[in-house]
Amino acid sequence: MTATGWRRAAALGVLAAALAAPAGRAGPAAPALLDFGADEQQRILRHGPWPPAAAFDPGNAQAGRPAAIALGRRLFFDPRLAADGRLACASCHAPQLAFTDGQARATGRERLDRHTPSLWNAVHGRWYGWDGAFDSLWSQALHPLGNPREMAAGAGHLQALVAGDRSLGCAFTQAFGAPPGSDAEATMVQLAKALGAFVGSLVSGPTPFDEFRDALARGDRRAAARYPLDAQRGLRLFIGKGQCSNCHVGASFSNGEFADIGLPFFVRPGVVDPGRHGGIVVLRRSPYNLLGAFSEAPASERAGLTRHVELQHRNFGEYKVPGLRNVADTAPYMHDGQLATLDAVIDHYSNLNLDRLHADGEQILKPLRLNDGERADLVAFLRSLSDPQATAWQRPAEDAAPPPGCGKV
Ligand code: HEC
Ligand code: HEC
Repeated sequence: MTATGWRRAAALGVLAAALAAPAGRAGPAAPALLDFGADEQQRILRHGPWPPAAAFDPGNAQAGRPAAIALGRRLFFDPRLAADGRLACASCHAPQLAFTDGQARATGRERLDRHTPSLWNAVHGRWYGWDGAFDSLWSQALHPLGNPREMAAGAGHLQALVAGDRSLGCAFTQAFGAPPGSDAEATMVQLAKALGAFVGSLVSGPTPFDEFRDALARGDRRAAARYPLDAQRGLRLFIGKGQCSNCHVGASFSNGEFADIGLPFFVRPGVVDPGRHGGIVVLRRSPYNLLGAFSEAPASERAGLTRHVELQHRNFGEYKVPGLRNVADTAPYMHDGQLATLDAVIDHYSNLNLDRLHADGEQILKPLRLNDGERADLVAFLRSLSDPQATAWQRPAEDAAPPPGCGKV
């Protein structure tokens, strides 16, 4: 390009930036880096690196094993797991929607009380379900299988399904080294462990935020400046004035625990969802928790968390702090999908109703009273947490045929 050409392009660039940005604010067109202080940089670095060290479904000896993952994947998409043959895990956890369903509350055989969470990166969580009623992916999988409002499948139904389908039976034998035994409950738990192995394999890829974070870590200011300025400003709010990273912390943007953020938790007039309080009761009672006979690691550190969990009054109305990776792909939001968009989420934190937080609720929450620019910046930041591939996952072509090595079945 000629010198005049460069000048003209530069002038156009300035003009475009001026048009794109409200007066007095730098637009995303001009690459630049905010003056993040040492303390801010340290906080930003704590949200990575991504992906973190591999994690595995606890208490599940099949976790991470390819044959179990392949069996789990076949099961996940198979509606015959439901008693009426009409509902698969994937009916609610649809890959093209980042393994959610796009609805406020899930629909099984009837409308459920809660919103379907994404399954990406679930393996990096500590408790499962919005109330943490489960301490592993495999015990969580047993819930929709058996729930009369969801798949309503008893152990006998599942045992018969595997026994009557040579392809599934062969995949089962490949995964577990032996065909299903005669104990239907044991077979059901094995199927749940295969499902847990598959769900545990879903770890999403790096995002624009990760590129920025890694650039900061290596001191590469040029590369860091490619991260849009509105996302940088949103990030500064997230780790600073917004106090968001008090709860949404670490590489998954969750502390793995539970909190009350002042949302209503009525299921219908007069009926409340007890949240974490109910979850702890279910967790302790479950024969499938990490301390039980079906756990393959009853003495592990993770099982210790289950052993020491304490039921407290403050647990009423607490829900799991969700991880925020791919959050832009998983609307609507919250345990019952009551907020339709990310803008509505930011409005909630901005206008927080302190009367709704119960007495022993979160002390750090206060209405943020953000202006329009700050709201938009926070949303831009949240959008930068998406892996573009998180809605593009596809079943491998091999799933269309019987499992490799099973011959013609
Ligand atoms: C009818 C819709 C529906 C079906 C079918 C369904 N799920 Fe879910 N799933 C949900 C909902 C709703 C939740 C939240 C449950 C809660 O908080 O009580 C959930 C939660 C989960 C979680 C916990 C994620 C987390 O991070 O907390 C996992 C794992 C999961 N489901 C796996 C499965 C598997 C495996 C199957 C098939 C056996 C399945 N789901 C079938 C709707 C469904
Ligand atoms: C006290 C801990 C806490 C703080 C501080 C906090 N959050 Fe949350 N966040 C939660 C909990 C708990 C939920 C889920 C509540 C529910 O489902 O009822 C949540 C939900 C969300 C969701 C919805 C995610 C989904 O998948 O449904 C977003 C987005 C979010 N928070 C962003 C933020 C932002 C931005 C800030 C700062 C302005 C923030 N949070 C501050 C605990 C916190």
